[in-house]
Amino acid sequence: MSNILLGVTGCISAYKAASLIREFKKNGDDVKVILTQNGSKFITPLTLRTLSENKVYTSLFDDENEWSTEHISLSRWADIFVVAPASANIIGKFASGIADDLLSTTFLSFEKNVLIVPTMNESMFENKATVENIRILKERGVVVMEPEEGFLACGEEGKGRFPKVEKIFLLTNRLLFPEEKLRGKRVIITGGGTFERIDPVRVITNLSSGRMALSFAKASFFNKAEKILFVHGRMDEKPFDFSENVYVESSEHMKSVLEKNIDRYDILIMAAAVADFRPDYSKEKIKKKEEFDLKLCKTEDILKSLKDKKILKIGFALESEKHLEEGMKKLKEKNLDYIVINDKENLGKEKGSVVVISKNGEELSIKNVDKFEIALKVIEWIKF
Ligand SMILES: Cc1cc2nc3c(=O)[nH]c(=O)nc-3n(C[C@H](O)[C@H](O)[C@H](O)COP(=O)(O)O)c2cc1C
Repeated sequence: MSNILLGVTGCISAYKAASLIREFKKNGDDVKVILTQNGSKFITPLTLRTLSENKVYTSLFDDENEWSTEHISLSRWADIFVVAPASANIIGKFASGIADDLLSTTFLSFEKNVLIVPTMNESMFENKATVENIRILKERGVVVMEPEEGFLACGEEGKGRFPKVEKIFLLTNRLLFPEEKLRGKRVIITGGGTFERIDPVRVITNLSSGRMALSFAKASFFNKAEKILFVHGRMDEKPFDFSENVYVESSEHMKSVLEKNIDRYDILIMAAAVADFRPDYSKEKIKKKEEFDLKLCKTEDILKSLKDKKILKIGFALESEKHLEEGMKKLKEKNLDYIVINDKENLGKEKGSVVVISKNGEELSIKNVDKFEIALKVIEWIKF
């Protein structure tokens, strides 16, 4: 787990830093907080100290520790420096190299990743000085998380809100993740289950939770993928926060979205449970009767239809018998680079076991681990 140095400044959203600390602590991270003098008007050091279980640092000239140079020791201790919320004032100080308090002085001595989360009134955020300061910081390698749009504390609507705590947590962990196998790569991931309409109110679907696909989205994000397009059907979970998410209903709809986009991507991870059959659609609601026959016909195989596309393709198969033999057959038929053979016991669960086969016949077996762990291991194993 990591050492997180959290800077908190004088913004109305400073109280949300408390939830962020809890998220880090739940993950087992050690958190130390630097609170600006103005920040302490919005949230007390006591709250931050209690949640972080550490002393809260508020002054460059701390009487209790007059022999130490805290701005240096905190910098060396931390794996990452997160400033959330970051006021327009601190952003200006960071950009111009002003070091007149503990937070700004620590920034100057910090040599690893810095993530700042600006939150303020929209006019302050769009002021040319703030825009220029943010541009300078980005150019110097500081990661800036865009604030969200919505209702602001000043009573106005606009861009400037503190983002969801889970998003800051995820982005911090992406920066801390040591690998970057997908840097510069554009990835399409399909997930969830498609559904096929029988009539205006009835559908056929399957029990896919979408968890495997979401794990691949998160693992691609951690591996620094440039862009993730997540094409998903019905899922138990909400879509991933850092991908472009396109909801599709039927297998035909999924196919058309993939066809439109595939040429602009490098990797396709086809983890969706696409319906194998679809009924003939009845425009009128089918009347209740004692019995009726539902005729189903085969849907078009999406991966097969994309056979000749020059993109690295990873398919998924769920086989109840002869797993490897059937998987290998599908890999050849669909011209895949890799196939992930899912155990049917994985369906809807947090954990799972898979066997991955490459087109050259190499095999990777992953047993009973979290689906995110599966996705990380698969990405680590595949060759581009
Ligand atoms: C009620 C109130 C709310 C404020 N909210 C914000 C804010 O959300 N974002 C911001 O950049 N400044 C905000 N400010 C202004 C800062 O507190 C001010 O610029 C201060 O100098 C920031 O100090 P610091 O960067 O040292 O913490 C607010 C001020 C007040 C009085």
